Amino acid sequence: MRRKGVEVLSDISASFKVGTVTGLIGPSGSGKSTLLRCLVGVQRFESGTLTILGHPSGTAELRGDIGYLSQNLAVYNDLTVAENVKYFASLYSSTKSDVTRVLGEVDMTDFAGKRVDQLSGGQKARVSLAVALVGNPKLLILDEPTVGLDPLLREDLWSLFTDLAASDRTLIISSHVMDEAERCQYLVLLREGKVLTQGTPAEIRARTNSPTLDSAFLALIKKERR
Ligand SMILES: Nc1ncnc2c1ncn2[C@@H]1O[C@H](COP(=O)(O)OP(=O)(O)O)[C@@H](O)[C@H]1O
Ligand SMILES: [Mg+2]
Repeated sequence: MRRKGVEVLSDISASFKVGTVTGLIGPSGSGKSTLLRCLVGVQRFESGTLTILGHPSGTAELRGDIGYLSQNLAVYNDLTVAENVKYFASLYSSTKSDVTRVLGEVDMTDFAGKRVDQLSGGQKARVSLAVALVGNPKLLILDEPTVGLDPLLREDLWSLFTDLAASDRTLIISSHVMDEAERCQYLVLLREGKVLTQGTPAEIRARTNSPTLDSAFLALIKKERR
């Protein structure tokens, strides 16, 4: 796939398993956001097919099934937590019980009346996640949701992601931080628009004879250069 004439993704072949957290891991500029945008259906691509939950990406049937958190947080600072969620719920013609549900799911019920600009970074990330959960999507696509957060908050969010997957959702989460890769059940490692490898963390470590995913990634890059 090309953006402004430059090849950004090529020969991508990856499958994402239902009910798991899949990590899309790669350095900045490797094509993570582009690939996620293709999955969501907001990015046009030239060739190939992309099937999600049995439908081609971008089709109307999928709209309610996919929750997307883009790399730029898309919540309104001058609204309260509940107002933000209500606003997005109204776009999805969701009900009041949906608002209550998603606030509970991200553990933000106690902050419902607080304005977003008075929240911490971690709480803001939760509100964005709440918005993505409106409409009760089966698939959640999160683009670098933990970027800029301290390690403790990242840890909190990752356990939340695991909980969400346990309630029968599929999560695809991008990150450029290797230590987050270890928390995923399945990984797709991306570099320069190509899938370097994919598999469970254990499989990838074993395949490369590496003690850590960091060294596995390095080994794969070196192998490719040879
Ligand atoms: N709007 C755009 N027009 C042209 N090229 C773009 C655009 N957005 C991103 N790119 C290019 O696509 C490549 C992948 O970018 P991106 O998907 O944002 O990577 P990542 O999310 O992994 O950092 C980069 O080389 C970037 O320069
Ligand atoms: Mg990106």
